[in-house]
Amino acid sequence: MRIDRFLSNLPRFNRQQVRLLLAQRRIRIDGQAVSDPKAEVREFSHVQLDDEVLQAGKPARYFMLHKPMGCVSATRDPQHRTVLDLLDEPQPQDLHIAGRLDYNTTGLMLITNDGSWSRRLTQPQTKLPKIYYVETEQPIGPEYIETFARGLYFAFEDLTTLPAQLEILGPRSARLSIVEGRYHQVKRMFGHFNNKVLRLHRESMGPLTLDPSLAPGEYRPLSDSELSLI
Ligand code: URA
Repeated sequence: MRIDRFLSNLPRFNRQQVRLLLAQRRIRIDGQAVSDPKAEVREFSHVQLDDEVLQAGKPARYFMLHKPMGCVSATRDPQHRTVLDLLDEPQPQDLHIAGRLDYNTTGLMLITNDGSWSRRLTQPQTKLPKIYYVETEQPIGPEYIETFARGLYFAFEDLTTLPAQLEILGPRSARLSIVEGRYHQVKRMFGHFNNKVLRLHRESMGPLTLDPSLAPGEYRPLSDSELSLI
């Protein structure tokens, strides 16, 4: 919300007082004096009038989890264990997943309470490369490289996937980099060649790589240096 609206919503200030406070640069957001009435106040922002705290701001929380097999990327599920069940954190209901994985897919999963951060990460326009290690039932041919780079038509969504890079590692294993996160995207791409994906593991999302010290099911907060990358 804009700072002028945030301040006007408080019973003690009218619009004229809000304009004056901003013009006098007496309002600070996260320690920075602001005069722009459009300056953004988030639920995580610390807002002050002189030395008085108007909003303390909720702590923003960011975690990386090594998703194990056999758990769903949902906040709640009536039948199965969810990735949020693996977290021992206060107010788990505030947390959500940035970029889902299928039930049996393993690897890097980001979890946060910051909706604008996760939206920015997952919207297709951000074109954040996601790297997957893939094992398949049938051999992977060199023709896959060109087909994935050209893009595949997905009739259900009526779209062509953005160029993807495939590195063949062995007869039935490869590393695939995609910038979207369409429904079952990797499985459907290999499905184009009638080649079933037997193992799928997300190694990285943009500059964030799964910490090798995390065993499946383990998680840790993102460090400040990791957060500054994204
Ligand atoms: N693509 C898939 O098919 N499954 C996943 O879990 C992630 C990407």
